[in-house]
Amino acid sequence: MESDITVEMSKSEQSYIETIYNLIKEHGYARVIDIATKLSVKPPSVTNMLQRLDEQKFVTYIKYRGVILTDKGKIIAETLEKRHQSFKKFLIMIGISETVAEKDACEMEHRINPETVTKLAKFVEFVESAPKTPPFLQHFKKYIRNGNRPKHCRKKKQN
Ligand code: FE2
Repeated sequence: MESDITVEMSKSEQSYIETIYNLIKEHGYARVIDIATKLSVKPPSVTNMLQRLDEQKFVTYIKYRGVILTDKGKIIAETLEKRHQSFKKFLIMIGISETVAEKDACEMEHRINPETVTKLAKFVEFVESAPKTPPFLQHFKKYIRNGNRPKHCRKKKQN
């Protein structure tokens, strides 16, 4: 089985790394106050967590300024980002709105087996790279809208 580099991390640590990564992408740095706002927590909690992440060499914490990710932290962040995008795309594919997909992707990405992540990413890539939306997905979208299935997708009869 593939190894999971995030397996030793708590869900909360992963959320912090992800938030820091996104803030750095947006502003070039991540300040305590901005992390606190994004995660709806108090600044002292952020400071505690940043010290913990610094001890584990995920971030470099500069007092009164904020943090940057270490190379180790960046690898984790990029892994989480890929998972997030796969889940988000998958959810949108099955008809979930962009806003909900964005939120739920974050919920789903922190505690799953690497095998699931890999297969899901492949599934998304497969569907996306098809020249047209695959027929089963078109049928499914119609089914969600009006409950109708085309003939060849009807339920199997129970014996
Ligand atoms: Fe996320």
